[in-house]
Amino acid sequence: MSDKKILPTQNLGGPEQIIDLLKSQLSSVKTTSELENVKTSFLGRKSPINDLMKEIVKYKEASEKKAFGEKMNELKETVTNLIAKKEYDLKEEEYGVELEKWTDVTAFNSKPNKGTVHPITKAIWEIEDIFKRMGFDIELPYEIDSEDNNFTFVNLPPTHPARSSWDTFYTDDHDVPIVHTSSMQNRIYRTKKLPIYTVVPGKCFRNESTDARHEHTFFQIEGVVVDKGITFTDMMGTLQAFFSEYFGKEVQVMLTPDMFPFVEPGGMISVKWEGQSEAIKRITKGTGWLEIMGCGMIHPNVLTMGGIDPEVYSGFAWGGGIERLIMIKHGVEDVRLFKNGGLKFLRQF
Ligand code: DAH
Repeated sequence: MSDKKILPTQNLGGPEQIIDLLKSQLSSVKTTSELENVKTSFLGRKSPINDLMKEIVKYKEASEKKAFGEKMNELKETVTNLIAKKEYDLKEEEYGVELEKWTDVTAFNSKPNKGTVHPITKAIWEIEDIFKRMGFDIELPYEIDSEDNNFTFVNLPPTHPARSSWDTFYTDDHDVPIVHTSSMQNRIYRTKKLPIYTVVPGKCFRNESTDARHEHTFFQIEGVVVDKGITFTDMMGTLQAFFSEYFGKEVQVMLTPDMFPFVEPGGMISVKWEGQSEAIKRITKGTGWLEIMGCGMIHPNVLTMGGIDPEVYSGFAWGGGIERLIMIKHGVEDVRLFKNGGLKFLRQF
């Protein structure tokens, strides 16, 4: 093919001649290095196309210049495609396969589908950071823990009727995938020095059918504070400060009485989800309020089981849904989106 090599200054005429010459050169190319030479001749700085481009000065009218420019772009594209096609053919010969059936993930220019830090991970980092700045430390829960830590030590003895609402999968040793991050409470009371200011972000598992509000596997952020003279207003102030920081603005928060055997009194905090979509209405059951966290003053039995004297110390605890916080902050209208692995969704955070 060397006899057909084009010289930089050679005038090859118009686009058709350039394409004809390229085709005839490509037909005798046998190796990728030969192809590289052809590529440089036709697409490099000293290519006939670049020579041809200089003719743009001949055109005076803007519309003529534009039409010429478009023609040149078309020419470049045709040349690029012809060379790419040849590259493909050579690879097919080399590998002895039909390439269309394969994706070569290592091929130059193939764009890997890069992932991102998961929005739940990001939210946990943000939440941890807020509580750290408020003086809390962080503990991670066991993913599988004893039945006692999940239930008995948070005031749900084996016969307690409320156990059934958390009933779950048991291992042969009567451990369970944790149903809530409250499973860490007893361990924290027993092992930490007083006063205690700790948050526990972690994954929880429930025997649950899923819908836009519910998942069988989800994340919670538990918090426990035990100190002298702690009151209900300390809890409300702490949580209100957290919400303002997390949402970056004042949000409407509603506290309603609720029953959790590990707190007395106990409550549920809901946050107003500003938004008019049908999905938001459905998720909030037409109220605009979404339940975010259970909370309350730690029950004296729970403190006692944790080796803390409830006559001397008092405290509060809460357990909140991390996905729900993200849903309100970012307008995610279905909790199941967090687990489906769709990059289009995940890349938006
Ligand atoms: N563990 C409860 C749940 O998963 C949430 C909760 C409620 C945690 C009240 C608490 C609390 O610490 O005080 O539904």
